[in-house]
Amino acid sequence: MTDNPLLEITDLQVTYSGRSLFGFGGKQFHAVKGATLSIRAGETLGLVGESGSGKSSIANAVLGLVKASSGSIRFGDVELASLKTRYPPAIRSQIQAVFQDPYSSLNPSMTVEAIVTEPLRVHTSMDRAERRARAVELLKLVSLSEEHLDRHPHQFSGGQRQRIAIASALALQPKLIVLDEPVSALDVSTQNQIINLLYERRAEFGIAYLMIAHDLALVHHISDRIAVMYLGHVVEEGPSDRVYHAPAHPYTRALLDAVPLLDPQAQRQRRTARKSAPASDAPRLSVSGCPYQNRCPHVMSRCRSEMPPAYAIDGGGTASCFLHATETCDTVRTAKDKESVVS
Ligand SMILES: Nc1ncnc2c1ncn2[C@@H]1O[C@H](COP(=O)(O)OP(=O)(O)O)[C@@H](O)[C@H]1O
Ligand SMILES: [Mg+2]
Repeated sequence: MTDNPLLEITDLQVTYSGRSLFGFGGKQFHAVKGATLSIRAGETLGLVGESGSGKSSIANAVLGLVKASSGSIRFGDVELASLKTRYPPAIRSQIQAVFQDPYSSLNPSMTVEAIVTEPLRVHTSMDRAERRARAVELLKLVSLSEEHLDRHPHQFSGGQRQRIAIASALALQPKLIVLDEPVSALDVSTQNQIINLLYERRAEFGIAYLMIAHDLALVHHISDRIAVMYLGHVVEEGPSDRVYHAPAHPYTRALLDAVPLLDPQAQRQRRTARKSAPASDAPRLSVSGCPYQNRCPHVMSRCRSEMPPAYAIDGGGTASCFLHATETCDTVRTAKDKESVVS
């Protein structure tokens, strides 16, 4: 790993224009409201948050599938946000993607060989025999084999289809793979197998991952850092272990609380504690202030009027929450400056 970020996203905004009754000119919908994130070479950033928080919009902006409405997306020396959405081949070969739905993301009329070798056909001068030989190697990397080459996607389970999608993503040895909820459609034991597979291939090839999930516990092991999104905002970011074991933003804590505990007594205690929390469960859009104010059990008056800045958190990273501010100052402070942290 080097210190220079491979991918550096700064103040990214993604806006969708709605349609009015008479065509275009309807209301704009702000799906991502100023996200700042970075990933170093070989590093995995877990991006988590509930459905609708803007995770896929960030993924698609990085992949050039949607246009950033403002902000910067730097990939190495290249400013992706200023490129046309169809990237030049040199960029496309370095950034690959795996999507959530293994049933619709693979072309049903193509054989596994054609799917896995498609990037090689487009981006290399390998002939058919060379591509087939490489396809066999790629299938081995995802624990499939030569006998699968001539089959079609419908002959495989969801987990096997994701293995095929991963083999295709690995074909060009990209620097970055964007994984948008790659295991959300799979059962729990298959999820773990695919996560382990991704982890091993990353270690082997030094690829960076932008790993999107709605379940923080699922990506904790594979991620070096974790960023948490809520309604278009990155509300917390930091080293994976710190975010998982000592979440600093009330929303991150709520996300972790949503994961069922194996111990029934602990689960009962948590349910009782949650019932007593004065939080509304409706994620109403706020006009000003903290995006989480309507669900937060710790909401204070300033949360309704001011947007909390990113405060440095002990153990690394930041959380955009006034619980981490001191009374007198509301600018970004270093962990050393901080006098008290309420949790
Ligand atoms: N093409 C689109 N047009 C309009 N709204 C969209 C479009 N894509 C996503 N959205 C909206 O943007 C918000 C964020 O969506 P998305 O980025 O898919 O979130 P996530 O991946 O976290 O579920 C959602 O409210 C969604 O309805
Ligand atoms: Mg999504």
